[in-house]
Amino acid sequence: MNPLRAVKGMNDVLPDELSRFQRVEQAFARTMQLYAFREVRTPFVEPTSLFVRAIGEATDVVEKEMYSFVHHDEPLTLRPEGTAGAVRAYIEHGVPQAEPVTRWYYVGPMFRAERPQRGRYRQFWQLGAEVFGDAGPASDAEMVDLLVRFLRDIGIPDARVYVNSLGDAAARVRYKAALVEYLTPRAETLSPYSQRRLETNPLRILDSKDPRDIEAVATAPSILDVLSPEDTAHFDAFRRHLDALGAPYEVAPRLVRGLDYYTRTLFEIKGATAKLGAGDTLVGGGRYDAMVADLGGPSVPAIGFAAGLERLVIAREAADAVRTIDAYVAPIGEAAVEYGLVMARDLRAVGVTTDFDGRNASLKAQLRRATAVGARFALIAGDDEVAKGVVQVKDLAARSQEVVARADVAATLRRKLGEAS
Ligand code: HAM
Repeated sequence: MNPLRAVKGMNDVLPDELSRFQRVEQAFARTMQLYAFREVRTPFVEPTSLFVRAIGEATDVVEKEMYSFVHHDEPLTLRPEGTAGAVRAYIEHGVPQAEPVTRWYYVGPMFRAERPQRGRYRQFWQLGAEVFGDAGPASDAEMVDLLVRFLRDIGIPDARVYVNSLGDAAARVRYKAALVEYLTPRAETLSPYSQRRLETNPLRILDSKDPRDIEAVATAPSILDVLSPEDTAHFDAFRRHLDALGAPYEVAPRLVRGLDYYTRTLFEIKGATAKLGAGDTLVGGGRYDAMVADLGGPSVPAIGFAAGLERLVIAREAADAVRTIDAYVAPIGEAAVEYGLVMARDLRAVGVTTDFDGRNASLKAQLRRATAVGARFALIAGDDEVAKGVVQVKDLAARSQEVVARADVAATLRRKLGEAS
């Protein structure tokens, strides 16, 4: 009998690796909460029709990659992504009637029957977020800036951001026509799959990975040339806001991405290409201003993103420990323990994530622990510091140390943490 094995492309995550996943998940939850997002959990299984309607019939995901089955006459699918389910839940629970703006984030497994390779799996985890109710380009820029900061925070400082605009439905009709006109004389040079796409969904040819298609579209027309004045103004304002935030980006006029629901702003973040090869897209996202209404809700604009958790873990493999906590309070000697206990409580009260070591262990043991849990600062106090009302603030990243008055510790840490991000 053959030994039992996990399904191809679906991985076990054993404790050592899981701790690497959790560090990224924790950093993500922290970032999202800092930006006033709240977590939502939706089912792993949804009606098949939800994905067909939301993602689009002529997409790779719906045509080739869904795990679908019929249970008691009901066609069901393991969710290939999180946006459609989030929108369904948002409508089903009357959220748009209850609040004008909704910020949700989620973490969970997704399922796509793709060819497995490094960074591409059949069950994979996404960290995602959706904002409903804000059509403004500032919201788009805030999301991209949030992502750049999050990636930097987990040790991926050199991610590359690509942005584009897909305009409204009318712009895409104009663009499809321009694309078909451009590609038809070149149809024979396209892959057989894209030759079919030329009729069913020409935009999808732009994200084909086949070298023949990549060559054919290299000089294709740009969608930015056919946008309406309103969509152009939206895109220009988005870019101005990114500049104001100091977020780096590059305009990629042929970026379309594999899902049909996008309107206006579209973005993609790549990184760690040496480790991930062609699958180096860490984050994908964009606006989908029509989906809520298309799925039966009121007309509410929306924007969101999702990042592949495994890809983030691979991308930051060689990076230093993720900074999951800000401060590690390390009291030296029995008398300092209470001094440290109160200080840790005071730091948490002003939002500094703090671990407290009450073991009365040696300085060496406590510093080892501070490094292991990914603390940025160790706050050391022994008898001498308690008597003087001060603390030794040790920066574990910069390896520097200074004496700070007990009353100034919170303000000093917040300033230093602000500079570091
Ligand atoms: P997506 O581009 O299909 O977008 O996926 C987002 C990210 O999930 C990708 O950039 C990649 O990191 C990861 N990913 C996708 N497929 C796989 C796979 N087979 N194995 C490993 N990682 C994978 C969405 O899913 C949209 N729902 C994003 C979004 C949210 N747009 C608006 N709101």
